[in-house]
Amino acid sequence: MQHTLRTTSASAPGKVILCGEHAVVYGRPAIALPLLEVRASAWVEDAPGAGLHLALPDLGEQWEVAPEARADEHPLAFLTRRTLTMLGAPLAGLRITLRSAIPIAGGMGSGAALGAALVRALAAHLGQALTPAAIAALVYESERFFHGTPSGIDNTVVSYEQPIWFVRGDPDAAPPRPATIETLALGAPLRLVIGDTGVRAPTHLTVGGVRARWQRDPARYEALFTAIGAVSSAARDLLARGAVAQLGHLLDRNQELLEALGVSSPALERLIAAARAAGAYGAKLSGGGGGGIMLALVTEERQAQVCAALAAAGAARVLQTVVT
Ligand code: PMV
Repeated sequence: MQHTLRTTSASAPGKVILCGEHAVVYGRPAIALPLLEVRASAWVEDAPGAGLHLALPDLGEQWEVAPEARADEHPLAFLTRRTLTMLGAPLAGLRITLRSAIPIAGGMGSGAALGAALVRALAAHLGQALTPAAIAALVYESERFFHGTPSGIDNTVVSYEQPIWFVRGDPDAAPPRPATIETLALGAPLRLVIGDTGVRAPTHLTVGGVRARWQRDPARYEALFTAIGAVSSAARDLLARGAVAQLGHLLDRNQELLEALGVSSPALERLIAAARAAGAYGAKLSGGGGGGIMLALVTEERQAQVCAALAAAGAARVLQTVVT
């Protein structure tokens, strides 16, 4: 019998953290927003008689996914096996291609988006539907296996594709404590300009640095985390009311606290200062810090000016988005 070879595709967005990064690792709330314009995509094709082939042509990488997990394998290979096993499908006969328009290691959630696109495409290819929570849980499992203890905010926002309020859970507690995930309705659209320092700063290094400083002086760092959590709570309120000017001040306050945590950098602060001087409501680093990206909250009138100011201040890349 002749079978038609099918290809199925799916995608997932990038993300930014509006407020609460780092403190979210220590149980305080944070707010993340999807970046719907920049996406990662996955294609799953039937490949009868072949194994399980996974390719990332943009990175020049490809792997045959082994039947058993290996400590040195790529998280996406682990995730492919884990997802197919969960869906009750054989670990063979598929060719999977992943591509991303999201800058890698730039605080825009490229790894989590690739994972969510992969899980979605595999499920769709097998004719199964997974909830955002189920997608987020699979991606979290692969990130945890390879990166220690991420809070889970990245995999959650790219799977839900909506603004989210997030408080981490504890998967190692007995019984495991689930994360608190609430989707947020915005009272007014948020217009953001995102500036990339072009400096690669792996999140695990800045997270590790904060952990080392917290261990030396827990009282000081707990107080900073609590103050950041209070920013997230106040921001949630302002988002619901659409009070964007006040929200801008909160972002500035969050940046001060991130500087006190020691995760800012001169390159980030140059872009943040340029955005504020060009008339942004407020600006802060976003994500792990140490490099990576910053975001500025702007009006439509000032948007072009803020973009130009960021480019003039040395941004490697400037993105614009409106979150609704
Ligand atoms: O993945 P990034 O660089 O956007 O940062 C994640 C946010 C942190 O709070 C710094 C880490 C985490 O696991 O939540």
